Amino acid sequence: MCGIVGYIGDHQAGPVLVQSLEKLEYRGYDSAGVCTNDGQKLIVEKEKGKLKELKKATDDGKKVQGTVGIGHTRWATHGEPSKINAHPHLSSSGSFAVVHNGIIENYMELKHELSANGISFHSSTDTEVIAQLLEYHYNGDLVDTVIKIMPLLKGSYALGIMYREAPDKIIAVRKGSPLIIGIGENENYLASDVPAILDKTRKIYRLAANEIAVIKRDSITVYDTDKNVVEKSAETIEWSMDAAEKDGYEHFMLKEIMEQPKAVYNTIIERIKDGRVVLDEIHLTAEQIKSFEKINIVACGSAYHVGVVAKYIFEKILRKPVEVNVASEFKYSDPIVDEKTLTIVISQSGETADTKEAMYEAQRKGSYTIAVVNVVGSAIAVEANDVIYTLAGPEIAVATTKAYSAQLAVIYMLAIYFGDILGKINQEDYRNYVSELLALPEKIKLILNKAEDIKNTASKLFARKDVFFIGRNIDYALSLEGSLKLKEISYIHSEAYAAGELKHGTISLIEKGTLVIALTTYEDLHEKTCSNIKEVQSRGAYVLGIGCENMQLLVRSADSTILIPKTCDIMLPSLAVVPMQILAYYIARFKGCEIDTPRNLAKSVTVE
Ligand code: G6P
Repeated sequence: MCGIVGYIGDHQAGPVLVQSLEKLEYRGYDSAGVCTNDGQKLIVEKEKGKLKELKKATDDGKKVQGTVGIGHTRWATHGEPSKINAHPHLSSSGSFAVVHNGIIENYMELKHELSANGISFHSSTDTEVIAQLLEYHYNGDLVDTVIKIMPLLKGSYALGIMYREAPDKIIAVRKGSPLIIGIGENENYLASDVPAILDKTRKIYRLAANEIAVIKRDSITVYDTDKNVVEKSAETIEWSMDAAEKDGYEHFMLKEIMEQPKAVYNTIIERIKDGRVVLDEIHLTAEQIKSFEKINIVACGSAYHVGVVAKYIFEKILRKPVEVNVASEFKYSDPIVDEKTLTIVISQSGETADTKEAMYEAQRKGSYTIAVVNVVGSAIAVEANDVIYTLAGPEIAVATTKAYSAQLAVIYMLAIYFGDILGKINQEDYRNYVSELLALPEKIKLILNKAEDIKNTASKLFARKDVFFIGRNIDYALSLEGSLKLKEISYIHSEAYAAGELKHGTISLIEKGTLVIALTTYEDLHEKTCSNIKEVQSRGAYVLGIGCENMQLLVRSADSTILIPKTCDIMLPSLAVVPMQILAYYIARFKGCEIDTPRNLAKSVTVE
C-alpha cells in the first residue's frame, strides 16, 4: 500500500527521501515521487513504475534542492498508475504539496465544488482535492487551515503537507492510516512505517487519529483538533536493523519462512510458565469467559485463514459455536453479535481498514474484542479491549508466512487457556498440548531442513496452469492458505476446496495434468481424503500429497508426497503450512516472479 516519508534537517532532503522510500518498497506500489522546498518554490519529481525510475530521473535524489521534503510510493486506487497521478500533488498555484495514504470518499463532491469556484484539476486522484482545499481555505495559519479542512474530508487519510512559504516545516496529520515521526538531532523524519527511518533514528512518536504535527528541524509540536498541544511520549523501536534487512537471503519471503521457528518460539515462550498457559494480557474474568455463548472471528486474507483454522480448534475443544467472518463483509451484514459474543480480531499489521471497521462494529454491538496483532501500537492493538501480540518481528514480504505461524500459536494458547477455564480439557490433554506447543519450533525446523527437496518438487511443477488444494476439516482450513500463498506470488490460478465437495461441480475442471495438492494430516479423515485423491487421479490429475510421516496409505495413493512430523491434531496446521509456503516460494522463483512485492498487492491495506 502507499508509503509516506518526510525529512527536515541540515542535509539535502532528496537523497534521504529516496533512501527512505526504498525501505518502504515492500509495501507494494506502482509509482513514486518527492517534493522539496528550495526556499523559493516547491520542486516536484515523480515517475511511474519502480523507484529506480525516480532515482534515475533525480540522480538518486541529488537533483532536487532543499533540506526539507516529502516523498511517496503510490498504490493506485483512484486513477491509473501514471506520472500525473503519482504523489506529491500540488495545488493550482503550486503553493501546497500533499502526499496521502488512504481514500477520500467524497472527493468527487469536493472536486465538483472546487471546480465550480474556478479551480482546475490535473490528475484523476482523490488526493489532489486536498492540496486544492488547503490553498482555497488558507487563512495565514497552517495548523488552523488543516483543522478547518479536516471535517470536509470523509474517509481515511495520513497526510504529509508542505507549504511554499514555510520552508521550515512539514505538517503531518492522520485519520485512519498510520503515521510516525522519527526524532533526530537537528533533523526529524516523517514516515508511514518504521522501516523507512530505522537506519536514521529509533526514537519515534506515533501520531494518533485526528492529531496534527508541525515538524521542524529542531522541534515537533503535536496538536489536537481544538489546537491544544498534545504531550506525546516517545517510543524506542527495539528491532535490530537485521530484522528489516534480507540478511543474505535472496528474498524477504524466504528469510521469513526460515524465521518461523523463532517467531513461534518468541510468541509462546513467555506465555508458558510452569507448564501452564498464562495470558496476562487478557483482562476477562473466568465468569465473563464462561458467559460467552459464541465466538466471532474477523480478519482478512491470511489472517482470515488463521480464523478458519481457529474455528475447527475452538469448536473441537470449547464446544462453543464459532463464526469466522471476512472483515469487509462483516460490518455491512448487520451481524448478530452482542455482549454474549467474544470477538477475536486477527491482523498482522493492526491497520487493515476492513478489519478495523469490523472490530468497531463488533464493539458497537457490545462484543468484547481480543486482538491478535503483530505491530505494536497499531490502531487495532490500541483500540481492542485486549491485545495479544504475536512476536514474529517485522514482516516485510507481502505474502505473510511467519506472522501466520505466530497467529496460529496464539490461537492454540487461547484454545488451551479458555478450554481449561471452561473445564473442557483434562489434565493429561493439557500437559500434552503444552508439550506439543513447546516442541513446535523444533518440528518446524525439521521441515525447513527439507527445503531443497521441496525446491526440487517445485522445479517439476512450476509450469502448471491450474492447481486445486483439497483437504477435510482442519486440512481444508489449511488448504485455503496454501492456495492463497501459491496464487499471490506465482500468479498460477489456484483454488482451495473441501475434499468432499470437489465432486459436486468443480471436479469437471480436472483434466490430464491438473495439479491437485491434497492435504491429509488429520488422521481421522485420512482414508476419506485418499478416496478423493483416487477420484481426481482417475480423471487425469497429478496429486502431490502432504501428510504425516506415518501415513502409508497417502504414500501409496498420491503421485508424490511431502511428509511432516506428527503432532497433536490441533497443531498440525503449523507444520503442514511450511511445505506449502516453501513450494509456493520456489514455484514463484522458477517462474521468475517478483516474490516480495507481487503485482497489484499491498502488505497492509488501509482502505476499505
Ligand atoms: C493484505 C495482505 C495479506 C494479509 C491481509 C490482512 O491483503 O496482502 O497478506 O493477509 O492484507 O492483513 P493484516 O495486516 O490485517 O493481517
